[in-house]
Amino acid sequence: APLAAGPAAAQQFPGRTITMIVPFAAGGPTDTVARLVAEAMGRELGQTVVVENAGGAGGTIGAQRVANARPDGYTLLLHHIGMATAPTLYRRLAYDPVNGFETVGLVTEVPMTLVARKDFPANTLQEAVAVIRREKDKLNYANAGIGAASHLCGLLLMKSVDTAMTTVPFRGTAPAMQELLSGRVDLLCDQTTNTTEQIKAGEVKVFTVTTPERLAALPDVPTSTEGGLPDFQVSVWHGLYAPKGTPAAVTQRLSQALQVALRDPRLVSRFAELGTTPVAQERATPEAHRQFWMADIAKWKPIIQAAGQYAD
Ligand code: MLT
Repeated sequence: APLAAGPAAAQQFPGRTITMIVPFAAGGPTDTVARLVAEAMGRELGQTVVVENAGGAGGTIGAQRVANARPDGYTLLLHHIGMATAPTLYRRLAYDPVNGFETVGLVTEVPMTLVARKDFPANTLQEAVAVIRREKDKLNYANAGIGAASHLCGLLLMKSVDTAMTTVPFRGTAPAMQELLSGRVDLLCDQTTNTTEQIKAGEVKVFTVTTPERLAALPDVPTSTEGGLPDFQVSVWHGLYAPKGTPAAVTQRLSQALQVALRDPRLVSRFAELGTTPVAQERATPEAHRQFWMADIAKWKPIIQAAGQYAD
């Protein structure tokens, strides 16, 4: 589509391959979303969008790489709710976690599930809560590092049941899920984009979805309200970012391509199989994304401060 304004370079954008950084391990939930978006955006933009995984430190390593990249639209970041929590959780970062980015648009909001190794001695959320309260820090709860969705969900769970487990961090929940499948960790709260297939195959136990309603993709899994923990609710929003200073004409073009990508039939049906949906078109814009992100930073700040658990 032609652009109304902007310097010549922006009007020719994109003239080469775009790199989309995923700040977690390959094969995990963020990666799954990013690869579907990258493929569909690439078709719309007429250029390849390559996904690169830069995992570690709850997503802050990948975010740092994009904040410090050239602001030309050729290096992007697909990140989630961790963008709203890192500014408060991390007291030392080598990049500006708020002002280091231009927003392109929101992508999706993904429900979470509480899952356990196959032989975990509980079959319902209530039974799982009893086991957690009994075994406490003898249980290993896997997550993707401080600020990861699995970390936030774990905090919420441990607060809801008023019991701390031992936390085991990974570079993403793809490796965390591998450890759960082989029984070396006990529990994981992870996005449906990374758990639906293992749940359906019976490779893990599932106790609850973290949404107010049951999910069409997992109709047999009760909600946390049904399971007696109504406060145990989380959804993991994802957004697309460019480095601060990327020309507005470029972020607009990217946003437009994102909006087209989110209506791609292959993406929509794969999202649905994995328990999620793309955001409405008006939310896949730089303005709506920025507004939502800023509100979420403000929302999480007092929660994190009350928990008093920071990364150093
Ligand atoms: C991932 O892609 O590994 C996740 O989004 C990790 C998480 O935030 O729990």
